[in-house]
Amino acid sequence: MTTLHNSGDHGAGRIGCTAAGEVLPSVLATGQQPSRLQRKGRYTEESMRHPGKMLPAIASRVIAAFTQPGELVLDPMCGVGTTLVEAIHLGRDAVGMEYESDFAAMTARNILHAQAQGATGTARILAGDARNITTAYAALRNDVALVLTSPPYGSYTHGHVRSARQGGDGAKVEKTNHRYSRDPGNLAHQRIDVLLDGFGRILSGCGELLKPYGVIAVTVRPIRVNGELIDLPGRVTEVAERSGLVLTDRLAALLCGVRDGDLVNRASFFQMLETRRARAKGIPACATAHEDLLVFQTASDLNGGRG
Ligand SMILES: C[S@@+](CC[C@H](N)C(=O)[O-])C[C@H]1O[C@@H](n2cnc3c(N)ncnc32)[C@H](O)[C@@H]1O
Repeated sequence: MTTLHNSGDHGAGRIGCTAAGEVLPSVLATGQQPSRLQRKGRYTEESMRHPGKMLPAIASRVIAAFTQPGELVLDPMCGVGTTLVEAIHLGRDAVGMEYESDFAAMTARNILHAQAQGATGTARILAGDARNITTAYAALRNDVALVLTSPPYGSYTHGHVRSARQGGDGAKVEKTNHRYSRDPGNLAHQRIDVLLDGFGRILSGCGELLKPYGVIAVTVRPIRVNGELIDLPGRVTEVAERSGLVLTDRLAALLCGVRDGDLVNRASFFQMLETRRARAKGIPACATAHEDLLVFQTASDLNGGRG
């Protein structure tokens, strides 16, 4: 269990705590429903085209834990807007940024859809490169209570598959929606060190927009690149610390379900296929069943506040 403390003043003076003084367990049961069911009716159908969406239950759990109604939540790499949609359903306000203009447009439509369903928060989305977030959202300096985001992982772990007849008697598997776009400028399409450097710049910019004692939460998982296991949560922590942030908590947000004392695997057909292929090559891969949820605050807040 992770015991967190709260000063009770909803924003000022919080260090390593949830907004409601909640004691968070170190494992969050966020995969009780499959992703598709979590989204059904709540997001537009076109959103399914995005290759690397956050589970809505992860977003709502984190937002409820770390903010109060009326506070502002930011996702600088918001994809189809999961963070924004869950925030406004919880009565928070939200802002987002997304490099790909078609995903930014999907976010805008998801916001309208949520508001038509009664979401009371307001939301704003900008298309652009979040490495410039402090310029794009200069007016939000000292306003953001929570940044909730996740970095793109390239096409290593994403995608949907369908089987297609191959002619003759064989069937082949076709991979779709595994790329964000063909734009090489998207951080997802850069080498891992460039991705991490860019992500560090984004975190540093977000840190400047945080209100005192605000929180930055990042969901991320280890990945394999050409069989090699990359500790992406560890690498993200390193770049965050170089960007003036301090890791205050590390939780597991489940992608699998828990039922009758057992785990319910929710890995996609594509992830299972990749795992089997790796094992056949002698690589001891497993189907991932959780995301690491890394919680950061600014070093200046932890050292007694900003001057
Ligand atoms: C893991 S996905 C986020 C998905 C999102 N949480 C959701 O549920 O839809 C990361 C996103 O970062 C975007 N991205 C990549 N480089 C970016 C940049 N420099 N600035 C802003 N967004 C970027 C990608 O296009 C992708 O949509």
